[in-house]
Amino acid sequence: MHIAVVGLSHRTAPVEVREKLSIPEQTIGSSLKSLKEEEHVLEASILSTCNRLEIYAVVNKPEEGITTISEFLSRYSGLAKEDLLPHLFFFHHDEAVAHLMRVSAGLDSLVLGEGQILSQVKKMVRLGQENHSMGPILNRLLTQAVSTGKRVRSETSLGTGAVSISSAAVELAQLKLGQSLGKDQLVSLESERVAVVGAGRMSRLLLQHLQSKGCSEVLLLNRTKERAEKLASDFSELSIHCALLSDLDDCLSKCSLVFTSTATEEPIINASRINALERTGFLRLIDIGVPRNIDADVTGINHVESHDVDDLQEVVSRNQEARQKVAMQAEGLLKEEGRLFLEWWDSLEAVPTINRLRASLESIRAEELQKALSRMGPDFSARERKVVEALSKGIINKILHAPVTSLRAPQARAARQNALNVVETLFGVNNEKGSG
Ligand SMILES: NC(=O)c1ccc[n+]([C@@H]2O[C@H](COP(=O)([O-])OP(=O)(O)OC[C@H]3O[C@@H](n4cnc5c(N)ncnc54)[C@H](OP(=O)(O)O)[C@@H]3O)[C@@H](O)[C@H]2O)c1
Repeated sequence: MHIAVVGLSHRTAPVEVREKLSIPEQTIGSSLKSLKEEEHVLEASILSTCNRLEIYAVVNKPEEGITTISEFLSRYSGLAKEDLLPHLFFFHHDEAVAHLMRVSAGLDSLVLGEGQILSQVKKMVRLGQENHSMGPILNRLLTQAVSTGKRVRSETSLGTGAVSISSAAVELAQLKLGQSLGKDQLVSLESERVAVVGAGRMSRLLLQHLQSKGCSEVLLLNRTKERAEKLASDFSELSIHCALLSDLDDCLSKCSLVFTSTATEEPIINASRINALERTGFLRLIDIGVPRNIDADVTGINHVESHDVDDLQEVVSRNQEARQKVAMQAEGLLKEEGRLFLEWWDSLEAVPTINRLRASLESIRAEELQKALSRMGPDFSARERKVVEALSKGIINKILHAPVTSLRAPQARAARQNALNVVETLFGVNNEKGSG
């Protein structure tokens, strides 16, 4: 058995490829089912976020397993294999484990150390468990990845400072406004007429950052007005006017800065929509949705500037140096967690031998006990029989304790293999002989 991960992320694929491989929560179940039906896939789980799609799997043959998963991704995205493969990464065994630990800790995120990824890894665990696509190995690995993510946040300062895609989006708006004023720095957004489209988790974070960056008024548009109103009620210091998505044209006509963060599958803003508006001022659009909420065809429209999630790299790089130093602190912790998992994995090698040894001793015990009891005849009371039976079980357990502990203990692969060979030979429990 092997652990493998196949996927793509903001590091390997642009947003136009990533959006084709965004698997919404409602179709994760059927995707996991198709993966599990594949001959080479024994366990599977899917991590789908705006910046990555990764499939973690336990496969019986690494090459065949990885090919199977890549073919699944090609079918799902509708991209030909030759177009998709250059964007995919593949990791196997210890590299796959190390990658997951880094992802969960936010070290592989566009915004280094952002916290949303941890809840997305937790969601991957929940969906894998609900859809029964994970077995003992992925369960253990992913649970450990979640606790590693938590450890990094509590034991290092990587998670301090509210960093997220949303905070980067607000910073990008500040930077672009600054640049348009001839300053290469972040400036206050107080003069902007700002709108946020969407009222989910990302919009909440957008509002928090807008508030902290000097915004006093925001127009909040959502498909469902009640949700926008509920979100607005949590911001007492920000004047939020809520409207329906059907007011989008009016919003685009009046506002100078519009953030979009809805989970729509199709763009809600495109060139023809903007061109049909009677607008006068400059319009800056910042889209953090994946799939994108704003069509790429808006690029080049006069007095309109549009940015997608990949453009956040510009502000992210400015802040990265200081955070990289903190990230280094986390690396040691991640190595330790990865090693613990691999030790557990290695100890699994001993399980078949331990099971055969246990079964062999148990059959001797049961046989000998039966002989002894039949010799004792009816003189032996039920209570005495129970005592003798418990005594025989106690002896077997005591005998097994030392070898089982030693076979399971962390050790070099070769040393464990030697120990397994010795036990198998001495007790006659080799697999080939079918003993026990
Ligand atoms: N979560 C993250 O860490 C993260 C990070 C970066 C980017 N993103 C991207 O940001 C976007 C929003 O994510 P989220 O986590 O905030 O989602 P969320 O909490 O699930 O909220 C979804 C929002 O999208 C709206 N929506 C859903 N389908 C829509 C449709 N067909 N047309 C118009 N509006 C629709 C919902 O409106 P209703 O209230 O009416 O349902 C709601 O406002 C997604 O594209 C996501 O990929 C997410």
